Amino acid sequence: MAKEIKTIGVLTSGGDAPGMNAAIRAVVRSAIAKGLKVKGILKGYNGLLNEEIIDMDALSVADIIHRGGTVLYTARCLEFITPEGQQRGADICKKHGIDGLIVIGGDGSFRGAQKLAALGINTIGIPGTIDLDIACTDYTIGFDTAVNTAMEAIDKIRDTSTSHERCSIIEVMGRNAGYIALWCGIANGAEDILLPERYNNDEQALINSIINNRKKGKRHHIIINAEGIGHSSSMARRIEAATGIETRATILGHMQRGGSPTCKDRMYASIMGAYAVDCLLAGKSKRVVAHSKGEFVDYDIDEALAMKKDIDEYQYTISKNLAR
Ligand code: ADP
Ligand code: F6P
Repeated sequence: MAKEIKTIGVLTSGGDAPGMNAAIRAVVRSAIAKGLKVKGILKGYNGLLNEEIIDMDALSVADIIHRGGTVLYTARCLEFITPEGQQRGADICKKHGIDGLIVIGGDGSFRGAQKLAALGINTIGIPGTIDLDIACTDYTIGFDTAVNTAMEAIDKIRDTSTSHERCSIIEVMGRNAGYIALWCGIANGAEDILLPERYNNDEQALINSIINNRKKGKRHHIIINAEGIGHSSSMARRIEAATGIETRATILGHMQRGGSPTCKDRMYASIMGAYAVDCLLAGKSKRVVAHSKGEFVDYDIDEALAMKKDIDEYQYTISKNLAR
């Protein structure tokens, strides 16, 4: 029979995302409500290996639901990718009496949780990343805030772009995924959207599109370029030289990772945090919490990591039709 869970740990890992604090709060308060003790592990797997572990109570998560970032801090930890690091991590969990560990992060962080589970630590992952690039779930904590932040910034750039009758290339985050770019592209009414999953490097087609739009009477030309394609500044120089239209590049960068989480991020993070605790109490391990087809569910981490995700073709076609 599985060992009874008495104490759980929680950590945030990889890039921070708005809503992580709401998830931490939900983990801590749900666990306490169900009679568990909670330990917070600072700075992701790095903090685990350095034994930066604190006791948490209901008050330790007061006044954080509306704050961006993560009060547990986050880090990337190369040592944890090695079997020796993982074994040390599992030993430290056991030493601190941590029977179950909730890991809030992305695919990389889930790989760490997968390894810890194989070493006897019950682990549950919660998807926290602005990139929306976790295949098993249609929602990741932070995406909603990040696209809203990016959308508002792009609206502002559009104002000045129109006044000067310029072309503007705006680069959004997303690592190798184009979800932020696609959503902003549609929501901001961009003339062109460049996604790593679809872009064929045909810059001439882009140049033709800018020239045609100008002939049609459009005064601005907004191009949303995904970070996975990058090179926005050199692209802008080439476009200006080829079209004669003043072109500026803006890389939105880390502003997309900060700020107070939206209602949706707070709500989903709260449910997912509580759900993760329930998974541990139900004796589950090596699972990822997900939102799929309108429901909160959980998947085996091996299965979740093997899943593939792609840009929705229907949405992509719509984005093109709306950009005329
Ligand atoms: P994310 O979780 O957002 O995908 P990373 O890919 O940077 O972010 O991963 C976060 C951390 O998870 C890494 O710094 C490392 O400590 C751990 N990690 C990543 N890949 C593995 C792996 N294959 N095995 C064990 N731990 C891993
Ligand atoms: O995964 C979130 C993310 O912001 C990606 O969109 C981006 O590629 C990466 O993290 C940036 O990482 P760093 O904060 O280390 O520069």
